[in-house]
Amino acid sequence: MSKHTKLNIGLFGFGVVGEGIFSVLKQTPSLNATIRKIAIKHLFKERNAPKELFTTDASEILFDPIINVVVELIDDAEAAYHIVSQALKQGKHVVSANKKMIAAHLPELIDLQKTHKVSLLYEAAVCGSIPVIRNLEEYYDNDLLHSFSGIVNGSTNYILTKMSQEKWCYDEALKQAQQLGFAESDPGLDVEGKDAVNKLAIVLKHAYGIDVHPTNILHQGITHLHEKDTQYAAEKGNTIKLVANAVCINKQEVIAFVLPTFVGASNKLSSVDNEYNGVLIGSKLADEQFLYGKGAGRYPTSSAVLSDIAALRYQYKYEYKKSSSLPEYTLSQQAVLRIYVSYSAQHQSLIDDLIRVEEQYTCEQRNYCIGTIYLKTLIHVPWFYKQGVSTVLVSIIPDLDSKDNMEIAELDYSVETIYN
Ligand code: HSE
Repeated sequence: MSKHTKLNIGLFGFGVVGEGIFSVLKQTPSLNATIRKIAIKHLFKERNAPKELFTTDASEILFDPIINVVVELIDDAEAAYHIVSQALKQGKHVVSANKKMIAAHLPELIDLQKTHKVSLLYEAAVCGSIPVIRNLEEYYDNDLLHSFSGIVNGSTNYILTKMSQEKWCYDEALKQAQQLGFAESDPGLDVEGKDAVNKLAIVLKHAYGIDVHPTNILHQGITHLHEKDTQYAAEKGNTIKLVANAVCINKQEVIAFVLPTFVGASNKLSSVDNEYNGVLIGSKLADEQFLYGKGAGRYPTSSAVLSDIAALRYQYKYEYKKSSSLPEYTLSQQAVLRIYVSYSAQHQSLIDDLIRVEEQYTCEQRNYCIGTIYLKTLIHVPWFYKQGVSTVLVSIIPDLDSKDNMEIAELDYSVETIYN
């Protein structure tokens, strides 16, 4: 595709973002891009676009030789995978915002791009309007990239903000996040941390070249949190944020997880409120960098989709450079986490799984303790997954007992200070 080629777009989905991109493209004539057809599920709904553009027949887009770009903005991840893989096989470039689909099928999608010499771009899939993927892909050499810590889900951040700052109840905050168009149509994906872990799986590929299915990454959302946890955080001058982490613990190993996290007032992530997202990049030389912006909603997401469409003009494609560079990074469980756990009396025995208990408190409504645990233990203990137990990350400690990790003890950069 040359910069003079007209972009004839077939759009899948006309929801919050689909309608946004339709209106944004009308106002961006310089892009020389036109939406030729829009595939939707039901024709009978009133829509803010000419009727003749709509079809319920995907093949009108997928097999139309005039259409050279498919923009996929539907909800259903498996249907989206079918559409995107068909479009790539037909030699069409694709822009997608579907993090669940991309995280679940990234290796196959990379193969399809290579085989059919087309590009699949998905900047909107991670942190909405913040250019995270292109940054990780292009700018940070994996040798320099020490850590990625991000608030990557706007809905949960919106809910936590409204609950802590405006004392809204959980249901009210969730309902509002849905009405504002931040939440997934199945909001369980947001509140259970699944959306965040899907985004983290994509980040791991672009940051470190690691292939991992999101179900294999430790994650917890905000549904286990108890009001006592928020109170405890406030007493200590912290807030609770849902943070996705990828931290390089030695030359070849990265630990990754999504957990509610105590964030201190001096940490940049503490200023990320409502539907905003924020990412802290720990770099071995540059120390800390902070990316901030809207992570959800019609126009912020449309902005990233638009940027991807524009990038197709200059033949941009992800090269997945980190996947072929050496050393090869792998996912590790070789770390110790300092955690706060609050639990109902029946789960008292969980403290036996901690390496060391540093603080413990028992009362009628809720017990809590602070202690250290091996990451590899936390992944396997049944209580972590139980509704009556909430786990909040305090800090990450490299596992100094492990010979491979001795080196990190000598590094200036202290992982333990990340959240303070
Ligand atoms: N439900 C997602 C969020 C939308 O709240 O962040 C943007 O990916």
